[in-house]
Order: sequence, then C-alpha cells, then structure tokens
Amino acid sequence: VNLEINATGGNVSSPWFWGIMHEDINNSGDGGIYAELIANRAFQGSAKFPSNLSSWSGINSATLTLKKLPTPLSSALPSSVNVAGTGKIGLTNAGYWGIEVKEQKYTGSFYVKGSYNGSFTASLQSALGEKEVFGSVEVASKSVADTWTQHKFVLVPSKAAKNSNNTFSITFDASATEAGALDFNLISLFPPTYNNRPNGLRPDLVEAFKALKPRWLRLPGGNMLMGNTIDSWWKWNETIGDLKDRPGMAGVWEYQLTTGMGLVEYMEWADDLELEVILGVWSGLSLDGDHLTEATIGGAVQHALDEMEFLTGDANTTKWGAVRASLGHPKPWKVRYVEIGNEDWLAGRPTAYDAYKNYRLPAFIKAFREKYPKVELIASPSVFDNMTIPAGVAGDWHPYLTPDKMVLAFNKFDQLSSDNVTLIGEAASTHPNGGIGWDGPLMANPWWGGSVGEAVFLIGAERAADKVIGACYAPGLRNLNRWQWGMTLVQHAADTSLTTLSTSWHVWKLLGRDPLKKTLPVSGGGINPLYYVAGEGEKGESIFKASVYNSTAPVPVSLKFEKKHSQATLTLLTGPEDPYGFNDPFTRVNVVKETKTDLKPTADGAFEFSLPALSVAVLKAEK
Ligand code: AHR
Repeated sequence: VNLEINATGGNVSSPWFWGIMHEDINNSGDGGIYAELIANRAFQGSAKFPSNLSSWSGINSATLTLKKLPTPLSSALPSSVNVAGTGKIGLTNAGYWGIEVKEQKYTGSFYVKGSYNGSFTASLQSALGEKEVFGSVEVASKSVADTWTQHKFVLVPSKAAKNSNNTFSITFDASATEAGALDFNLISLFPPTYNNRPNGLRPDLVEAFKALKPRWLRLPGGNMLMGNTIDSWWKWNETIGDLKDRPGMAGVWEYQLTTGMGLVEYMEWADDLELEVILGVWSGLSLDGDHLTEATIGGAVQHALDEMEFLTGDANTTKWGAVRASLGHPKPWKVRYVEIGNEDWLAGRPTAYDAYKNYRLPAFIKAFREKYPKVELIASPSVFDNMTIPAGVAGDWHPYLTPDKMVLAFNKFDQLSSDNVTLIGEAASTHPNGGIGWDGPLMANPWWGGSVGEAVFLIGAERAADKVIGACYAPGLRNLNRWQWGMTLVQHAADTSLTTLSTSWHVWKLLGRDPLKKTLPVSGGGINPLYYVAGEGEKGESIFKASVYNSTAPVPVSLKFEKKHSQATLTLLTGPEDPYGFNDPFTRVNVVKETKTDLKPTADGAFEFSLPALSVAVLKAEK
C-alpha cells in the first residue's frame, strides 16, 4: 500500500480523546483499586445483601455475634460484631481473598465499645499451618463501656509473606474486660497507597491506568450509578465524609459496596493523573426499568445540581462548596462534562426511554443550561442506539461487539454531524466472531484477535475525533477471585504479582500514548486489510497509526509525508499465532510482542516497512 500524507487539511481532534472509566464491578473497587485490605470491615448491609459476618472468624474461644446495638457506631453503620469468650480472644479477617504482606507500613484503625483495661494486638499472619506472624503491634486500650472509641495503629511487618494467603487479626484479653466481651466496628487496614493518600488507591493498578496516558475519567460507572431499584442508586452524598458516615449500597454486580471509594476519592484519582472528569449523574432510572415520574424528576435534577455545587462551588459562598472544603478540598474542582444517566435506552424500554426523551433528559438539560452553561452535556444513549439526541448534546455509545463488528464500525463516525457528536464511554470486543453474540457468554479474557479488532475501531474513531469526544475500554478491572465480566483491561488479586495487563491494555496503550492534535489527509490507498489514520501529534510530530485485520499475509507499506522527515520510529505490536491467545495471570506469559525500529526514508522520501497480519503499529516522525 503506497500512501501519501498531506502536511495540511484534516480535522482538529478532540484534545481529550483517550480516557478511562471506573465502576465497582468484578470487585474492582472493593477488593480492587480501593486499597482497603479488610473485607466486610463495617458489616454493611442492605435489603438485597443483608449485613453478615462473612470474611470474619473468631480466635481461640471467641464467639462472634452480629449485633444491632442501641448505641451503634453511627446511623450509617448500625451493625457491629460482639466478640465474647475467655482468656486471649479476638477476630480474624481473611481480606479480599487474602492479604499481601510486605515489609512496608500498614495503617490501621478500629472502633471498640466496652470497658477494657488492657491492650490489643493487631497482627498479620499466614492463614494456614503454623500461622507464622509477619508483624504485630500492641495498641493500648482507650475503650470504655458506653461509647465507641477509635484506635489507630501502624504495623510494619518484619518479614514479607511468600504468598497472599494471610489474615489480619485483633486479639485482646477477655479477662481484663468488664463484660467478657467487646464490640468492634469499622476495622480498617491500608497498605501504602498511590500518592500516599489516606483512604486511597492501590498503586500498581493506578500505575496501570496511568501508563495508558488517559486524559479523562468517567465516573462513577456504568450500571453502578443506576442501582438495581429506584431507591438503591449511587447517591453521591452518601459516599463522602468520614467512613463511619457512609452506609454503603447494594451494588448492581451482586455484592454490597462499602463506598469507601466515593466521590472525593474518584476526584483525587483524577487529580493525581491530571484527568478531566466526565461526571455521570443519576437520571432517575434504575436497572429494573423503574423511573421517576414527571412530578418527581425534579428531585434527581436537584441532586445532580447539588453534586455539581459540591464539586465546583465556591467554598465560602455555597453550601456544598463549604462541605467540600471541610473535607480538605477548599479549591473547587473542574467538571467539563456531565453525562445524564447511563444507557438510558436500555433498561425498561420503551417506556423508560420515552420518559427520558420526553421529560427526564429535558429537565436536566434545562437546569444545567441555566446554572452551568459552560458544562458540556452528554446524553447516555447515542444515535447509534437509534435514539434521538437533542442538538447540542452529545451521545454516548457503548459498543460491546465481536472483533469483526468492531472493524465494520471503522467508518461509522463519518455519519455524525457537529450537532450530535458522541462519546465512546465504554467499548470492548466481548464476543468471538461467528458465535451467538449476546445470546452467549462474554469471552473470559481479552484475546489478541479481539484486541486488534478494537485497534481498527479506535483508529476509525480517532480519524473522526472532531466528532468523537473520546473513547475508553470498559470495564477496566477484574478481581481474579470474583467476577462476572471477564473482558477487562487489567486483572488483579491480593497478590500484586498477579496483576495482568491484557492484550487490549497493550493495544490501547500503544494507540493512546501519542494522541493526535489533528488528522492529516491520506491519499493513494483504500482501507482493508490495512486500516489507518495519519495526523499531527501534540508537539507537531507526524504520526501514522495502523492495524492489519482480514489478512493472512503481511502488508507492505510505503509512506510519504509531504512534511519532510529524516527519521521515523515504528512501534509494532504483534500477537501469538493463535488469535485466541491471551495474557494469562497464572502463566504470566505476555503474548503481545512490542518491537521498535528506527527507519530512514528512501531516496524519494518514503518510509517503507511491512506490517504482519493481525498487528497494530504507530509510526512517529519527529525530525
Ligand atoms: O461495563 C459493564 C457494563 O456494561 C456497564 O456497567 C454498563 O454501562 C454496560 O452495559
């Protein structure tokens, strides 16, 4: 394929094209990027997932009883555990399928009620066999009979554990208590976090996202925002403040959420990676299709306006801005985009969608245009879902497709107009070609052929990045011990050495780390099997991104830039022979091979190279 790339013309691209999103699915928040090590730390429950003692067990003669005391720790955390017995007793937590123990500083705390004149021992030890203790600390008791007292401690193990099959324990001397028992709640333990934020995030997983060079974070989800039922959505105001004032919520992915990773923690994540925010606000729809009426939608609109005020309002003159300041963030955050709902075309259709079109979406648009006219609004369906999006509002398309269908969407964005631009707020190859698609299960892991399909799709989308706000893969994370959605960018477990960067992670990273400031017209060849886009990077460099699909043979490429270059670097990703090969956390084999080649132009100024079948490449010419 002989291609010529003009020095001028083309489209100005969205400066925010590459992004990430997060919702707590697959235990990707609790048990995932949220660094808390103690599972079921505050016995939070809901109608769907009643409060329980899972992950906890007693030590020695201890009997653990879940109680709703007349004096709870807080109205948000009404349940606690009573630990009763004789002699040295206590309670042990198994963590989120184990706890990684390293020679590093762990920061912990717990609340106790009951008169106790002694000390507590907080320790990390192996779960099995002789229960080798890796580290422990004595915590002097301040506990009294009628009130809850918080105890804080720092624990530095003197030895790292060989694996993550470890537990955390608190023991005490029951004979020095008044009642032969103590009540405990909100037992927490954090390893070092990203940027050392208290109540923060797991460094290796933040680093995995950072390496993608994202420009924005879409939060909070996904279906998590919507909730299963009309009363169980992600209420931002219940996710802020002291952990003892967060009730948690029934997650939509079959587990209770602590909401320890709440709105402020999301915003701190965005701060740490310098990301714009795409804020999802609840649009009055739950996953069961129930939705607010025209008479009640105002409540959801006000809730969203309050959330905006919390994030962006002045600390001295607004009610919610002052609350934010009281939580350690006097400076308002910036929110560039607000997305109204999540996939409002899907649940409860057609009635719920009619309500979205007729009064739910219009109510939000009116209120935001009045109060926050500069904020760009995104409707949660897209024109590609055959939905009508009002002019001036963007849509959001979530293609979860086969790789072939990803490739077929290469040109799709050409049909958009500047009146109905779109976000690709979630995307992934989820099903194999030739299968039964959504009538069958998702693939269990991103696979090379699927990731190359995504590459073609992304090249097509970046080619139209004057009309596509940006794209991100979803879901981002999966805990290897409990998940329902296998197709994720990164997989993880308590043992950080199991963190696995999928084939798609490699593809999205390669394509995203050199964003195009504008596209440049290419002439001389059609597309298929070579799919490509050319453009100018942020430093004025010439960039060519390409992928080969639908070919069993390599494709020879000759590239001539109108802007002369004396050198170029070609970064090439190739995969395994088997297109279904994937990066398996348990073999730790990375099937994606990245090579870099420096190229010099031929006498007539062309860069010549060959791209293998099922490959993804970026050529960059800076000089
Ligand atoms: O990414 C998983 C789910 O897919 C999201 O929660 C939802 O928005 C979509 O249907």
